[in-house]
Amino acid sequence: MRVGVVGATGLVGMEMVRLVRERIGLPASSFLAFASDASRGRTLDYGPEQVSLSVFDAGDVGGGDYLLGATGAEVAGVWVPAAVERGAVVIDNSSRFRMDEGVPLVVPEVNLATIPAGCRLIANPNCSTIQLVVVLAPLAKAFGIEWAAVSTYQSVSGAGSRALVELERQEAGLSDAPEEGWFHRNVLTSIGGLDGDLYCEEEVKLARETGRIIGAGFPVFPACARVPVAVGHLESVTVRFDEPVGREGVLGVLRNADGVSLSEDGAAPRSIQGTSEVFVGRVRQSPVDSRTVQMWITADNVRKGAALNAVQILESLLGRSD
Ligand SMILES: NC(=O)c1ccc[n+]([C@@H]2O[C@H](COP(=O)([O-])OP(=O)(O)OC[C@H]3O[C@@H](n4cnc5c(N)ncnc54)[C@H](OP(=O)(O)O)[C@@H]3O)[C@@H](O)[C@H]2O)c1
Repeated sequence: MRVGVVGATGLVGMEMVRLVRERIGLPASSFLAFASDASRGRTLDYGPEQVSLSVFDAGDVGGGDYLLGATGAEVAGVWVPAAVERGAVVIDNSSRFRMDEGVPLVVPEVNLATIPAGCRLIANPNCSTIQLVVVLAPLAKAFGIEWAAVSTYQSVSGAGSRALVELERQEAGLSDAPEEGWFHRNVLTSIGGLDGDLYCEEEVKLARETGRIIGAGFPVFPACARVPVAVGHLESVTVRFDEPVGREGVLGVLRNADGVSLSEDGAAPRSIQGTSEVFVGRVRQSPVDSRTVQMWITADNVRKGAALNAVQILESLLGRSD
């Protein structure tokens, strides 16, 4: 069995490579790494060993029984169907297939069971969606949710390695980009282009993907912002339940929720880079509405919000007998 990471030189791809080695424990001889022509000739650390990067032309990534995709949506739209066609199983991180009927959109803690036997293409949700549904799904199952309002504070790594390098250049005073739209010293009040109703792309993804995964039919009111932080997405979440659940009801469910690290007394940790859990903190009962509870949710967007989700799915597929 051979496993490959496509887009292995990117932020998500590099984390996938680390996790495949650490968690799946594949020898280097069974591991493949793919990137664009820009990476031709490079090698990649695979634990103590080095693996060569294969440059793939958009049409064909070649070998690999299981491929983890960490390229943008446009590139994925070309190589993923070709890989599936030749018999590979693909777990793709891009937005390209997330809303396609027949492609399961999976967060392992929530809906692994939606992957049918023999499935060859599985989509990973957006980073802001993953950390949200890990928390909202068990709450929706326990109590029923009328609506959720979600304001995000998303780090620059969510926009990929080039954006992160640009943030560092701006911080060091080395950037020659026009200051308008800078990450540094700014909170940008939209992520991606705006639609006719002035919702940005990230907000539309968050609302639609949450609905597709939880399937609870409740509306999500999203507001997404980019903050000048390297790694980690923070979400302020206000949930109106169908009944007066209270802080204790929420804590009771989240204490036992898969993948959740709950801070009962205070805020979530300040530094979450390199962590694998979704952290929930400052759960508080609204003083003005008995059915409303507020909380902070935070996670490492590159690890839990992308690479780890895909590797968890891979682990579950490898453990299956179909
Ligand atoms: N960053 C996050 O927090 C996050 C979270 C959830 C989902 N995602 C999604 O995950 C995907 C990867 O994100 P990222 O942040 O890791 O991006 P990134 O750092 O920009 O990496 C992109 C990767 O794609 C490769 N690539 C680009 N153009 C290519 C081409 N024409 N042919 C082959 N390979 C090509 C790059 O290879 P070269 O280095 O050779 O150019 C690189 O390995 C995106 O779809 C993104 O939306 C990201």
